[in-house]
Amino acid sequence: MSRLWDKGDPLDRGVLRFTAGEDHALDERLVRYDVVASIAHARMLARQGLIDDQHLEDIVTGLEAIGAGHAAGEWHITLQEEDAHTALESRLTERAPEAGARLHLGRSRNDQVLAALRLYLLDACRQLHDGAVTLASALDDLAERESDTPLPGYTHLQPAMPSSVPLWAGAYATEIRDDAEGLLAARRRLDQNPLGSAAGYGVPVLPLDREQTRETLGFSRTQEPVTAVQLSRGKGESQLLFEIHLLLTDLGRLAADLILFCTQEFSFVALPGHMTTGSSIMPQKRNPDVFELIRGRCATSMGCLVEALTVTTKLTSGYHRDLQLIKAPLFRGIDLAEDVLEMLATAVPEIRFIRENIRLEQSLYATEEAYRLTVDEGIPFRDCLLYTSDAADEDLVVGGGGGGGGGG
Ligand code: ARG
Repeated sequence: MSRLWDKGDPLDRGVLRFTAGEDHALDERLVRYDVVASIAHARMLARQGLIDDQHLEDIVTGLEAIGAGHAAGEWHITLQEEDAHTALESRLTERAPEAGARLHLGRSRNDQVLAALRLYLLDACRQLHDGAVTLASALDDLAERESDTPLPGYTHLQPAMPSSVPLWAGAYATEIRDDAEGLLAARRRLDQNPLGSAAGYGVPVLPLDREQTRETLGFSRTQEPVTAVQLSRGKGESQLLFEIHLLLTDLGRLAADLILFCTQEFSFVALPGHMTTGSSIMPQKRNPDVFELIRGRCATSMGCLVEALTVTTKLTSGYHRDLQLIKAPLFRGIDLAEDVLEMLATAVPEIRFIRENIRLEQSLYATEEAYRLTVDEGIPFRDCLLYTSDAADEDLVVGGGGGGGGGG
């Protein structure tokens, strides 16, 4: 199967492997979006009188059948085909040579890849948003289940003030919902029709109707001028990765809390048994591997963001093959976030707090006591603080043996 740009020169396998890289595998997820975008393009060509109705029908039925075959796992993109675009067009041309050969009129893989990619990313933003909202609801349920379970509040990891499981879980639910909003907001830059910009400079002679493909594909606006399209590649992608990183930071901190709370010293929490692992040499241990890996994933999401951001720095305007390299960290970041959300959505409903192990030491009430003295006795707050910190110190010496130790 020849590449779209093939001029008949002999194929150097090493060069092909280097330039196509992992694109053929990465593009698997773009196939269905390229089918949709290609059909929209073909309909526009027909409406503008650039292909006839028979050709349009052959293109639509052909692409739909090829897309369905791909969804059913009947074929995959090969290294020789390089990417989703070539794979689809050459398969279509095999089925319907006359019509297939007309599909690429007025487009280039440069606008084609962005159309498919943006359609995919708009779906991915929505899916990640929904996953985050589901997790936030699971945290709401946890807060409800543990509505009167107390919890020490920590600053500097020292016991600081009385808190509670609902307050703890509520913080995460709120921030994760905020992250979900951020994921939806990342759609703004992606929600623009790139089709019709072709290689990056539009098309001469042909009366393309960019508004029509915009409407068919559901983009909010058409990206103008055509030269802005390639200049914008990577920006929406990086913004999404940034939002993913913020989400994973929150999820990592949630995991870090749970890892601390399930230590034998704390024993505040029982993690779902099927989500912990045993040790090969220490039979008494249950290890929170799942949660440690969730915590560790922030490093990956940060790496993805930096990798995507860095590709475009110092590029001149217009298309460059470097831009292809954004896809790998982008997809890795998205898949990672989906995996972590799924893991936590399974874990959170099964998390149990062990009330009898959660003791709020007297010292945690020092601030409360200082406020009470100020309000009831009219003692200046600073003086109250001195008085209550002495009391807290005493408490530390006399009564501060158990639990996680005193604060002050
Ligand atoms: N795989 C390529 C990418 O993601 C598709 C576009 C190729 N265009 C080109 N002029 N070589 O950028």
